[in-house]
Amino acid sequence: FPRAAGEMPGRCLVVLGLRLLFLVPAGVPARSGDSVLKDNITVRQGDSAVLKCNVDSKVSRVAWLNRTTILFAGNEKWSLDPRVILMENTAVTEYSIKIQNVDVHDEGPYVCSILTNRKPKSTKVHLIVQVPARITNISKDITVNEGSNVNLMCLAVGRPEANIVWKHHSPRGTHKFVTEGENLELTAITKEQSGTYECIASNDISSPDVRTVEVTINYPPFISKARSMGTSVGQKGVLQCEASAVPRADFEWYKEDRRQVFPLKTQGKQSMLIFFNVSEEDYGNYTCVATNIMGITNASIILYGPGAMHDVNGAAVLPRCSVCLLLTVTLIYLLKF
Ligand SMILES: *[C@@H]1O[C@H](CO)[C@@H](O)[C@H](O)[C@H]1NC(C)=O
Ligand SMILES: *[C@@H]1O[C@H](CO)[C@@H](O)[C@H](O)[C@H]1NC(C)=O
Ligand SMILES: *[C@@H]1O[C@H](CO)[C@@H](O)[C@H](O)[C@H]1NC(C)=O
Ligand SMILES: *[C@@H]1O[C@H](CO)[C@@H](O)[C@H](O)[C@H]1NC(C)=O
Ligand SMILES: *[C@@H]1O[C@H](CO)[C@@H](O)[C@H](O)[C@H]1NC(C)=O
Ligand SMILES: *[C@@H]1O[C@H](CO)[C@@H](O)[C@H](O)[C@H]1NC(C)=O
Repeated sequence: FPRAAGEMPGRCLVVLGLRLLFLVPAGVPARSGDSVLKDNITVRQGDSAVLKCNVDSKVSRVAWLNRTTILFAGNEKWSLDPRVILMENTAVTEYSIKIQNVDVHDEGPYVCSILTNRKPKSTKVHLIVQVPARITNISKDITVNEGSNVNLMCLAVGRPEANIVWKHHSPRGTHKFVTEGENLELTAITKEQSGTYECIASNDISSPDVRTVEVTINYPPFISKARSMGTSVGQKGVLQCEASAVPRADFEWYKEDRRQVFPLKTQGKQSMLIFFNVSEEDYGNYTCVATNIMGITNASIILYGPGAMHDVNGAAVLPRCSVCLLLTVTLIYLLKF
């Protein structure tokens, strides 16, 4: 027959006694006479639950059971669980207990068993334990090369079950919904998909649990700005070259085959070649080379004098007067015929 966990052998006799009085239901509590199902009691994990039982003054025996295990028989505590206490029931008609620091395994049916005038009666209470959604494991921050497949994982617990949503914050700050569920699969990842991925687990028991994964995507440099410059002899001149790359690009500058070693200045993704006092031989065609582990690229940048004109593509063209002269000569030549 059923026994309370850890109960002392001497108490078996009492169980037997109660059984004889039809106080302790054998297996199924419903076997006792009138059974009243009260509303379910819902508590959050860690909180206390008060299980109320109303009795009348003619009651001769009362007991509280967890399933078929006796917690209290009258004022005597049978349960060895320190979290279970008999309330200071001020009214004679009250026989309520309190379970402190409720946990998930406490969920289930509790029965207040009453014997009045030899007629058994019971009040059944169903304890429901809620657990706020909490993320238990999430993928670590990762760095991959462009084109790779990435699987992100976010595991959460909660009662009722946690709902999981992924959101993506790209470096440009666009905030967009990605997907629902524990796993997020990104195939042939592009650099636009880098950034912060937010896992949000919620079940309306408390505020959602949010954790993030940082996804870094390596890609080869591309030169986004190559600025040529016109300046006079004796003036300052600066050539600028800007490259987007992950990891950040290293820069080298060349003029023909000669590597330019000074004075260079690198600021974030921008490199500058600085001429503090431009001389005639500084003019010319420079090459900015940007390199990272993913690749290499270059761009031509011109340092030109005040006589040279400059087109939008950064290429120096003939001075305007030379063009005029050429046109004039051609015109005169054509007019002769
Ligand atoms: C109590 O909970 C049980 C199990 O979760 C459910 O089947 C039943 O409908 C609930 N009863 C009430 C009155 O909420
Ligand atoms: C109720 O019974 C379950 C199953 O035996 C047990 O895990 C839980 O600790 C009990 N809770 C209380 C408050 O007695
Ligand atoms: C989280 O999940 C990973 C992959 O399944 C596993 O290797 C790791 O041990 C887990 N960490 C924890 C704290 O459970
Ligand atoms: C620039 O260089 C020229 C020739 O070397 C020199 O005469 C001039 O003083 C320099 N100017 C400055 C501002 O250093
Ligand atoms: C610049 O790039 C072109 C084509 O990719 C390559 O042929 C050339 O050698 C490069 N120049 C330098 C200086 O790296
Ligand atoms: C500068 O040099 C590059 C190759 O090194 C060439 O492709 C480009 O046309 C040159 N630009 C000018 C304006 O001469």
